[in-house]
Amino acid sequence: MTTTSFYDSTGKGKAILLPSAAPGAHQSANPFFSTPETPVLIVGGGPIGVISAILLARYRIRSTIIEKHMSGLDLPKAHVIGSRTLEILRQAGFDIDRLRSLGPKPEDSDFVRFVTSLIGFEFGKIPLGSGSTEADDFTPESLANVPQPRLEDYLYEVAAQTGLITLWRGVEWRSSSVDNDGLEESVLFNRRTLNTIRMRSKYLLACDGANASSRTKLDIPFPDLPGQPVIKTHYVTVYFEADMSHIRSGILFFIISPSGLGTFISYDRASTWAFVMIYYPAKTPASFFTDDYCWSAIATAIGKPIPFKILSKTIWSTHPRVAEQYRSPAHPNAFLLGDAAHAFPPTGGLGLNTGFADAHNLAWKISAVEKGWTKDAGGLLDSYQSERIPVALANAQQSYANQLAVAELVEFILDTIGEEESPVRDSQSLDKLEKAVLENKDYFQAMGLHIGHIYGQEPDDALPVVEYVPGCFPGGRLPHAWIQVGDETRSTLDLVDGHCFLVLATRGFASAELLPFECNLGPHKVPVKTFRLGVDFFDLKGKWSKFMNMDADEAAILVRPDQHIVCQTEYLESLVEKLYSYLGFSG
Ligand SMILES: Cc1cc2nc3c(=O)[nH]c(=O)nc-3n(C[C@H](O)[C@H](O)[C@H](O)COP(=O)(O)OP(=O)(O)OC[C@H]3O[C@@H](n4cnc5c(N)ncnc54)[C@H](O)[C@@H]3O)c2cc1C
Ligand SMILES: *[C@@H]1O[C@H](CO)[C@@H](O)[C@H](O)[C@H]1NC(C)=O
Repeated sequence: MTTTSFYDSTGKGKAILLPSAAPGAHQSANPFFSTPETPVLIVGGGPIGVISAILLARYRIRSTIIEKHMSGLDLPKAHVIGSRTLEILRQAGFDIDRLRSLGPKPEDSDFVRFVTSLIGFEFGKIPLGSGSTEADDFTPESLANVPQPRLEDYLYEVAAQTGLITLWRGVEWRSSSVDNDGLEESVLFNRRTLNTIRMRSKYLLACDGANASSRTKLDIPFPDLPGQPVIKTHYVTVYFEADMSHIRSGILFFIISPSGLGTFISYDRASTWAFVMIYYPAKTPASFFTDDYCWSAIATAIGKPIPFKILSKTIWSTHPRVAEQYRSPAHPNAFLLGDAAHAFPPTGGLGLNTGFADAHNLAWKISAVEKGWTKDAGGLLDSYQSERIPVALANAQQSYANQLAVAELVEFILDTIGEEESPVRDSQSLDKLEKAVLENKDYFQAMGLHIGHIYGQEPDDALPVVEYVPGCFPGGRLPHAWIQVGDETRSTLDLVDGHCFLVLATRGFASAELLPFECNLGPHKVPVKTFRLGVDFFDLKGKWSKFMNMDADEAAILVRPDQHIVCQTEYLESLVEKLYSYLGFSG
C-alpha cells in the first residue's frame, strides 16, 4: 500500500487528483515502515479545510487534507458568500468574477420575500445585501450567492493548482497524541482498506464540521452561549429540482400562511431549490416527514401546479454554541476552525463566512511563526483564539436573535391575517405588515457582522454589530476605499498582499529616506511595505483620509498581513516599537 492508493477517483465521477508532496520530502512512500509526515494535517475536506490548505500554500506551506467521505458534497447547504469572505479570496488571488458566475445572476437573487406562497400575496420584501451603492463605499466585493458544492469544486480546483496540497479521501481521523518531539501523531483509519495508519504533523487543523469528534478528542468543551436558554431547532430540508425561473425573483421566500410555514431557498431558479421546515419533535416525530408529506407541503407552498422532483431530504438540528478554546491546551499546535469551532443557526448566513475568516486569521500566523518573525510564537498563535472566539460569540448571538425575530415576525403576520387564505386588503394593515417586514432588514444586510469586527475590543465597547462604521480602529479591518495606484483603480485592501506588514503613511510622515524599511528582528527580517498617501496612492473620494485621520500632516497606519490594523502613530520610532512589541521582541 502506498499513500497514493488513498486518492479519490470516485468523487462525483470526477477524479480529484491533487499532486502529492514532493516524493520523500514530507511523505514516506510506505506507511507500514515509517510514519508519514506532513507539516500541517487538516482534518476535514469541507470548505474551511480546503481554504486553510490554500492559504497555507500561499506561504509555501505544505499540507495534507484528510476527508472521511469518498465523494464531495452533493447538498447545496450554504450559499451566501459575504463581503469579507470575498475579500479574503480576492487577496488570495481568486478570480472573483468567475466565482460569482458560478451562482445565479444577482438580479435573480435580489430579494428576501415574505409571501403566502411562492406565487401568492406578498407582505413585504427586503433587498439582499446592503444596497449596492452603499456597499461599494465599504467593500470592494458586495456579497455573492454561490451554492456550496460549486464553491467547494472551485476551491478544490485552486487547491490542486498549488501543488502543495495532498488530499486523502475515504480516510477518517480518529485521535492524536503529542510525541516526544512535540509533533502531533494522528491515528487515521482508511475506510476503504480498513487499515489504521499513523501520521505525524507539526500542526493539526481540525476543520471537521459541527459534529466534530476532534473537539472531544482534543478535550475542548463546546458549551451553549452564556446566558442563553438552550433551544435546539430541528429542521427538515428538502432539496428539489424545478424550473421556476418564470416566478418572481428572490433568494429566500418565507412562506407564511394558515395552510403551512416554511422557507424556500433558491440556489438556481431554473433548477435547484430547497424547502426548509422547522418542526418540534415533542409534537411531531421526524418520521412524520415522509416523501409524500414533503411533496404536498412543497406543492402547497409553491401555490400552483409546477412539476418538481424531490432530490433528497436532510433532517438535522442545531443550536448556537462556541468552543471554549480554539487552541487545545494539551495539544499546543492543534486548532479548531469553522463549524468545528462554532455552530450557528442558519439565519444570517454566517456559518461558512465566519469559518473563512478563522482560516485567514490563523494561516499567516502559522507562516509568521515558521519564518521566525516572532519571538513569542505561543502568544501569536494564542491570539488566533482570543481574536476569533469573541467574533463567533457575536455572530452566534446575532444569528440566534435573527431566528427569534423572524419567528416573531411570522407570528405577527399570522395573527394579522387570521384564517384568511387571501389576506388583508385594507391599506392600514398592509402598511403595518410591510413595516414589520422592513424592521427585520438588518438581519439580511448585516455589513457590520461581516466586516466590522474589531479584534481585542472589550465586549462593552462593542460598536453596533449590524451597522458598519468605518474608522481607524486598532484590531479592526483596514477600511476599504477606492484608490488610484499608478493608472489603476484599486481598493486600499489590495495594498495588503498577505506577505508582509504594511505602513500606510502621509506625505509628511518620517522622512522619505527612512521609508521603506525592514525590521531586523532576531535572525529574520520582517518585510514591511510602505505606501504614501498622495504619492503612491490617491484617495479617490477623499472620505477615507478623513475617517482614517490621514488628513493630518504626520500619520501612519501599521497593518497586519491579514488586513487588520495594529495601530496608528505620528512617529516612525513608535511605529517600529509597536511592530517590535506586537511580534514579542520587546516589553
Ligand atoms: C443541511 C444544512 C444546510 C445548511 N445551510 C446553510 C445555509 O443556508 N447558509 C449557511 O451559511 N450555512 C449553512 N449551513 C452551514 C454550512 O454548510 C457550514 O457552515 C459549512 O459547511 C462549514 O464548513 P466546514 O468546512 O467548517 O465544515 P463542513 O462543511 O461540515 O466540513 C467538515 C468535513 O469534515 C469531514 N469530517 C468530519 N469528521 C471527520 C474525520 N474524523 N475525519 C475526516 N474527515 C472528517 C466531513 O465529512 C466534512 O466533509 C448548512 C448546514 C447544513 C448541515
Ligand atoms: C450532529 O449530530 C446530531 C446528533 O446526531 C444531529 O441531530 C445533527 O443534525 C448533526 N448536526 C449537523 C449540523 O450535521
